[in-house]
Amino acid sequence: MSAHLHPDNNVTINPSENATIRDVLAEFTGRRNFMKGSIGTAVLASMGGFSLEALAAGYVPSPSPTNGGIGFNGVPANIVPMTDGITVPNGYTAKVFISWGDAIGKAGPEANTHWNPSTAMTKARQLTTWGSHNDGMHLFPFPAVGASGLSNDRGLLVSNFEYVDPGLLNNTLTYGTDVITQDMVDAQLAAHGVGVVEVRKIGGEMKVQRPSAFARRITGATPCKVSGPAAGHPMLRTAADPAGMTVLGTLNNCAHGYTPWGTYLACEENFNGYFGTTAAKLAAQPRTPHEARYGVSQGGFGYRWHEADPRFDFRENPNELNRHGWVVEIDPWNPNSMPVKRTALGRFKHEGAWSVVGADNSVALYMGDDEINDYIYKFVCAKKLNTKNRAANRDLLDSGTLYVAKFNADGTGVWLPLVYGQNGLTSANGFNNQGDVVIMCRQAADILGATKMDRPEWVAVHPTTREVYFTLTNNSGRTVTDAANPRANNVYGHIIRFNENGGDVAATGFQWDIFAECGDKLSSNPARQGNIIGDDLGSPDGLWFDSDGRLWIQTDQAGDATGNYANIGGNAMYCADPTTRQVTRFLTSPIRCEVTGVVTTPDNKTMFVNIQHPGESWSGSFTSRSTWPDSGINGPTTQSANGAIKPRSAVVVITKDDGGVIGT
Ligand code: FEO
Ligand code: CA
Ligand code: CA
Ligand code: CA
Repeated sequence: MSAHLHPDNNVTINPSENATIRDVLAEFTGRRNFMKGSIGTAVLASMGGFSLEALAAGYVPSPSPTNGGIGFNGVPANIVPMTDGITVPNGYTAKVFISWGDAIGKAGPEANTHWNPSTAMTKARQLTTWGSHNDGMHLFPFPAVGASGLSNDRGLLVSNFEYVDPGLLNNTLTYGTDVITQDMVDAQLAAHGVGVVEVRKIGGEMKVQRPSAFARRITGATPCKVSGPAAGHPMLRTAADPAGMTVLGTLNNCAHGYTPWGTYLACEENFNGYFGTTAAKLAAQPRTPHEARYGVSQGGFGYRWHEADPRFDFRENPNELNRHGWVVEIDPWNPNSMPVKRTALGRFKHEGAWSVVGADNSVALYMGDDEINDYIYKFVCAKKLNTKNRAANRDLLDSGTLYVAKFNADGTGVWLPLVYGQNGLTSANGFNNQGDVVIMCRQAADILGATKMDRPEWVAVHPTTREVYFTLTNNSGRTVTDAANPRANNVYGHIIRFNENGGDVAATGFQWDIFAECGDKLSSNPARQGNIIGDDLGSPDGLWFDSDGRLWIQTDQAGDATGNYANIGGNAMYCADPTTRQVTRFLTSPIRCEVTGVVTTPDNKTMFVNIQHPGESWSGSFTSRSTWPDSGINGPTTQSANGAIKPRSAVVVITKDDGGVIGT
């Protein structure tokens, strides 16, 4: 987040770890044609090291039937004077894995050169390098060689690149008053999106495989197919795409998701911030209620792209807005495949989309709309997972039922269907088809009486019980409380959890409780002390279960360890025991960053964690507040006012020195 470019979503606009598949990557023919495009011969060659039958073993996490437990001694909070680096427990080692601007192993003119971050980033360089502001991330393991199951030594690491700091990227101190050029916009667009790198254990250490035929960049300009109820809808048609079927790019992919059939889900969050127009045009044609409900404003978040590129002027191209705010499915195993915007999952500020497979192979996805007083959603696929044929799952996300959650005060809840023609979603209220319902999803959910939540962020589904955990990061704007959002001016946030009725992921009702109210035990305000057992935290955001049932919690607050965070310290990652509710701090982070994105190899022995926006709001002053990671993984040995080194978002890889399971 950033004060101007990724605001805290604090202005209200609202009046498993899955049990998974036995053959996620089914027989080759199906995989080759899985999404539009065909696999290249170079990929085939690189895949020669394993059999396709082995791939058919699929993503079976084989979760431990027992609680993994927490076996490390927590690290102290990173309080003022802050360490501008990573700290992990004794017996663990963290290293920088890949940073913004580092080569991903993709052929191209800049592929083997080293970016000097004191120069401007270019579109050409960004197309072969790691993008900006990495956030949600998943690892797709290869099949094990010479054994059943999945490899702990080789996989595809896929990450979102949520947003950019334009001054940092375009290398200017005066972005607010500069003349914005198309080249500047194009470089920023190229830094957004998604990246795929092949990771391999080389000499006992996990490295980026360079070159790799799987290495890929998807950007804010990559053509994406539109599918589902909004495909071709009049509200998605533009002069550049009169059919309303092909959108250029994906933007503000915050958290993510992945499917049991081995695809990645990039989720478009604060897309509204990239659009703007002139004051005169807005005066001549004021915001529509639809634009207002999605937070569109004249200046957006200050990117100013519309000044150079009319695609982002919402008075020149009003429908371009409707082409963003979706879940985008990407097949990382086919570098030529076209990403697909799956509109059946609704249009809102998607944090992420987390899938779960039921005992009967029903598939559901949990999603949050990260805005103060917006909603929690679930999508239940109409068809069941096909565990024998991967290609049969190709369009599973195109048909099903989208629901929005209502939490009752008695600990029950109900999923309200967002279906055209039902419950007031009719022409009398402006909905003439299901396309209208998904495009104007927020307004539809308003009509149904969904529960206004305290900014839903990530979801984690317990690997064996399928219990669903949801972070509600904060809501300083809450004045009217309810049972599920019990604190007014909720500055520290909470974690809610629920179980579907009958253990059925497709159920239309659930039982819920609050796992933890976050806070500071030393606060003089009792309402802000929370009820955490163990190490306090605030603004929970990232959330993930490893296959042993450890719950990993990552935080996103201001990150400077001042004010409400003087005791809690900078952002951190914690390990929680869902049974005892014990919370222990595992990692502390550089100054003013956000800790987001976490995944391990199948054996839970190698962990990847994303560090986003160290030094946040860096542009406007070349006196950086962070010089991480180029000043060293653990920070500079002496803290200096070193303004020469630009901070960069990066992936960190963590191992236990004795080769053991992370968290033990
Ligand atoms: Fe980009 Fe909801 O955090
Ligand atoms: Ca973020
Ligand atoms: Ca987030
Ligand atoms: Ca957040």
